[in-house]
Amino acid sequence: MTDLLLLPGDGIGPEVIAEVRKVAAALCPDLALDERPFGGRSYDLHGEPLTAETLEAAKASKAVLMGAVGGPKWASAPRDKRPEAGLLGLRAGMGVFANLRPALCFQPLADASSLKRELVEGLDFMIVRELTGGIYFGEPRYIEDLPAGGKRAVDTQVYTTAEIERVSRVAFELARGRRNKVTSAEKSNVMDSGLLWREVVTELHRREYPDVILEHILADNAAMQIVKNPKQFDVMLTDNLFGDILSDAAAQLTGSLGMLPSAALGAPGTPGLYEPIHGSAPDIAGQGIANPLAAILSFEMALRWSLGRPELADRLLAAVNRALEQGARTPDLGGKLSTAQMGDAVLAAL
Ligand code: NAD
Ligand code: IPM
Ligand code: MN
Repeated sequence: MTDLLLLPGDGIGPEVIAEVRKVAAALCPDLALDERPFGGRSYDLHGEPLTAETLEAAKASKAVLMGAVGGPKWASAPRDKRPEAGLLGLRAGMGVFANLRPALCFQPLADASSLKRELVEGLDFMIVRELTGGIYFGEPRYIEDLPAGGKRAVDTQVYTTAEIERVSRVAFELARGRRNKVTSAEKSNVMDSGLLWREVVTELHRREYPDVILEHILADNAAMQIVKNPKQFDVMLTDNLFGDILSDAAAQLTGSLGMLPSAALGAPGTPGLYEPIHGSAPDIAGQGIANPLAAILSFEMALRWSLGRPELADRLLAAVNRALEQGARTPDLGGKLSTAQMGDAVLAAL
């Protein structure tokens, strides 16, 4: 059985996954790895961004680690064949509805953020993003021609009680092991789906998690609070679209988008999907300067959440911190190291 299926993908994806391979070989040489083309690369080879065979291989592994997908090359591919559609298909196909995106500021990087040191030093909050529902998947969705000229585009935001409850449980459970606070972000002031979200979270909290502190916040205010006073948050629970946007903002607090890993989890016992939250970075792809730490830290999350090796995860986390302490920085963090040199710095610290 494959322990970890690697899906390097496009752009900087293969560059950062190569560093994960190096780290995995040193840290746990017994790990059974496998690899498949995914996203734009799979589309070029097979005419599909996610083949049925790759999805089956993903479901049959203990964990899946994706690099990044997409890029200008596939901008005019039919929408259901675009690399990003492959990623949505993988998330839905694996049933990984809860996406954990930790905004953790490593001590040596407290000065690397564009925000002031005192705002980000010691920062450690977790965004729990709903990942298999909402406007990303709602039907109907289409673009139609209007008789009088012009077009009309429709996307549908849809959530059910059960979808909100299962991701909220993940957030409450996580909070119990942390600082015991959940902040739920939605737009209940203008959206019916936001209203239902708030009702369901409130009711679940009353029934099952009264010991956890629960706060509600409107998503626009959440964006502002993330840059004003991010240390007020412990676990932030939110939907698919708001979670996408708020987690990019949170990433910058940690120094760079190239620092933020993620874990997408489904039902207990099913494989998790691990991915850096950044994209294929077409502006720097091929230059060997991408920061591999988000990918390496995604591997760290896989060791912890799916592969049953928390002690190796602890070692890897400490090695990343140590490499940063010793001054290892890729250009996005204000340094000069290449992708491979940053991987080597983590290896040396291991
Ligand atoms: P992006 O995340 O690829 O890049 C945004 C900016 O951050 C760029 O300036 C890029 O150079 C920088 N950046 C990102 N990751 C970095 C890293 N590891 N090291 C250093 N710098 C890094 O977002 P975008 O430019 O809006 O999107 C590009 C493509 O990626 C699009 O096709 C998009 O759909 C796709 N995308 C994929 C994923 C994913 O695969 N999970 C996530 C986001 C975007
Ligand atoms: C992310 C990305 C994806 C998303 C895209 C590439 C489908 O932005 O993982 O944050 O929007 O979920
Ligand atoms: Mn995103």
